[in-house]
Amino acid sequence: VKGAWHREAVGGRWEEVGRLQFDFVTHFISRETRVLDVACGSLRLGRLLVPWLDAWRYVGLDANPDLLSAGLKELGRTDRHPALLVGVCPCRLPDADVVWIHALFDHIPPSDVEATLREALAAAPLVLATFFVGDDTPVLRGGAVVTYPNREYWHHSESWIATQPGFVRLHEYSHPLELTVAEFRA
Ligand SMILES: C[S@@+](CC[C@H](N)C(=O)[O-])C[C@H]1O[C@@H](n2cnc3c(N)ncnc32)[C@H](O)[C@@H]1O
Repeated sequence: VKGAWHREAVGGRWEEVGRLQFDFVTHFISRETRVLDVACGSLRLGRLLVPWLDAWRYVGLDANPDLLSAGLKELGRTDRHPALLVGVCPCRLPDADVVWIHALFDHIPPSDVEATLREALAAAPLVLATFFVGDDTPVLRGGAVVTYPNREYWHHSESWIATQPGFVRLHEYSHPLELTVAEFRA
């Protein structure tokens, strides 16, 4: 349903940003890859990724159980056995082959980002996480939200991201509000 609360609550642009995530992530994985989708929300990605992956391969975690429930309804009946967990990052994360963290780090402070990245790299050898990249001034993104270096929506300088343990590189990512994907390896 266009405009449903659980679609708007994760930023709207349901089809577009779901597909964008799917196209990006599937470039790094096969159908057998165990994917942990941290801050998976209402399964904007999961509803596309769960059917694509083999059974037992998808785990989604989010702080908001209502979004997880709404996501399960979006997914509908499935034989893929996805697991959905309630957790507030930073928290211990279950083992996976890849951790995907989309549009979380703009909502939590840098110390929590650092701790979440640590836990993600303890859980999986490859971590892909989005950031708003910016310097020390507020930035208007896609005419929709303003990001700041010191409050929500948080942005982070390229040099700060590069000092995080395991940092490999930033990737091109055509997100409508200019989120960038950073790659980390254990
Ligand atoms: C902008 S939404 C993105 C959701 C999903 N990744 C997507 O792109 O559709 C941010 C999500 O982060 C979740 N969230 C916020 N703070 C969190 C935390 N500390 N731990 C886990 N999830 C959190 C929210 O419940 C929400 O689902």
